[in-house]
Amino acid sequence: MDQNEAKRLAAKAALDYLPERGVIGLGTGSTARMFIEEVGALVKQGRGFLGVPTSTASRQQAEALGIPLASDDGPWSVDVCVDGADEVDEHLNLIKGGGGALTREKIVNQASKLKVIVVDSSKMSRRLGEKWAVPVEVLRFGHASTAAALRSLGEPRLRMQGKEPFVTDAGGYIYDLVCGVIENPAELERELDQIPGVVETGLFIGRTSVLLLADAGGITRLSRG
Ligand code: 5RP
Repeated sequence: MDQNEAKRLAAKAALDYLPERGVIGLGTGSTARMFIEEVGALVKQGRGFLGVPTSTASRQQAEALGIPLASDDGPWSVDVCVDGADEVDEHLNLIKGGGGALTREKIVNQASKLKVIVVDSSKMSRRLGEKWAVPVEVLRFGHASTAAALRSLGEPRLRMQGKEPFVTDAGGYIYDLVCGVIENPAELERELDQIPGVVETGLFIGRTSVLLLADAGGITRLSRG
């Protein structure tokens, strides 16, 4: 099974967690994209879903599939949010934001009763930071000063798109903070949140209800606690 097949398997397994009708958080990234395709097929069959997209890309995809969508303003009471992740540890804590949508993803995650994360097995690590840097979204104003403050916690690398800094849907920049293996992700999140100019971090601590992990052996379903 290749990585895309595993992502598709995880995306399809998430359909088991959808209510008959209700409000669905639509994540961002290639695995979430496959999930949104499946939701589009269910809507065509008559299922009554209202989507809350976590990025402009997911909104555009869902619109094209005819999925009814809530406004970006909220407030939403999301029954189930389905999203991908870049790295997952054994406590189901996550690093997200490879696609740059971490801030919107965390807001929708927070508004969701059930938080379903869909990944292939390449995303698993014993401890966060083994594979990924931590994406940190910052205000553009004074971003180089914010980066200087980030330097006390790791090595911040401004994410680029070609020759220009990558700009998020929320208008921010992203610094990928290389910190190596993270001993205490919750503490790191608290420290990052205290730096003025930091909008949000890609650390998702205690924000996974169910992890759907796909590999050649099929789907493994893991729950917190
Ligand atoms: C976007 C994300 C994605 O969920 C994450 O990057 C995983 O993407 P993919 O499913 O393409 O591997 O956090 O900001």
